Amino acid sequence: MQIGHISLANTLFVAPMAGVTDRPFRQLCRTLGAGYAVSEMVTSRRDLWNTLKTSRRANHDGEPGPIAVQIAGTDAQMMAEAAVYNVERGAQIIDINMGCPAKKVCNKWAGSALMQDEPLALEIAEAVVAACAPHRVPVTLKMRTGWCQAHKNAVALARRFEAAGVQMLAVHGRTREQGYRGEAEYDTVAAVKAAVRIPVVANGDITTPLKAREVLAATGADALMVGRAAQGRPWIFREIGHFLATGETLAPPLVAEVRRLLLDHLLEHYALYGDFTGVRSARKHIGWYVHTLPGAAEFRSRMNTIEDSQLQWQAVSDFFEELAVSTDRMPAQTALAQDESALAG
Ligand SMILES: Cc1cc2nc3c(=O)[nH]c(=O)nc-3n(C[C@H](O)[C@H](O)[C@H](O)COP(=O)(O)O)c2cc1C
Repeated sequence: MQIGHISLANTLFVAPMAGVTDRPFRQLCRTLGAGYAVSEMVTSRRDLWNTLKTSRRANHDGEPGPIAVQIAGTDAQMMAEAAVYNVERGAQIIDINMGCPAKKVCNKWAGSALMQDEPLALEIAEAVVAACAPHRVPVTLKMRTGWCQAHKNAVALARRFEAAGVQMLAVHGRTREQGYRGEAEYDTVAAVKAAVRIPVVANGDITTPLKAREVLAATGADALMVGRAAQGRPWIFREIGHFLATGETLAPPLVAEVRRLLLDHLLEHYALYGDFTGVRSARKHIGWYVHTLPGAAEFRSRMNTIEDSQLQWQAVSDFFEELAVSTDRMPAQTALAQDESALAG
């Protein structure tokens, strides 16, 4: 599959998740079978570009290409400037966020709220495409099915975005009004796919290889994007890829492999965030990895009392070593229990 002139390794994408899909997590997902990973969103507010948070998000050191940066904002000129700023820092693809209930930027709601203001949404797309064109950087866009149940305008917008020069669309099968409630629907994603010629990516509630196959069949999408189901379970890309290619279900990973993956993930995490912040922000990842394991609740509360990265790393190591004594493999995943913690950005 191509985004503009850029070829992708495969058609399984990690969804951008603020506070989750940082560089270490993206790299891990790619190692485990994701072909493409969009970064966490970066604000279009220039005054925040030098903050530690934004500079960490714009850190792509050692990341395999293509490097895709998502930008969020409500002003076309600022979004164009943010695009160029990120291109100058290594972005090879710019993704516009009209897909998540993003925070207010300059007193206006960014992200999926833009779908309610079609002229502004289009103005932003046109400005970002124009800013990226001289750099030969393709622009993609992520949106929902619409503003609310009565205003599902994804198809109309998709046509206009395509005409504006956007080169790929990802569609989460919920409206903005829904937040993360209810179930994703794929009819609108299928309608978007039928309405445009650029690649369309289906997103929302893809939690198992079987569901991945169903969503592909229901939408005819060119690619699939997985978010929450990859939290603490980055090998889901390998499982989906194998299932789509062979029709066979892979055995769950060995506990020993997950132990190694998680311990390496933690080291990368501490290296990016430093010890103080790293030990705290790693807790949610650890919680997701152990979520379905015996003793998880107790282990998670113990994690909250540990404030030293070496002790945290060792506790995780011991937990999985002990688990490996009683079982070889991780429990099989049916549908993911998407609890509140999955939404913690
Ligand atoms: C913690 C969290 C953070 C998110 N941050 C973003 C973001 O920065 N940009 C974006 O476009 N979508 C964001 N999303 C939405 C996801 O990309 C995705 O569309 C949504 O979770 C549905 O896919 P899923 O059911 O596979 O999780 C976020 C979702 C979660 C759970």
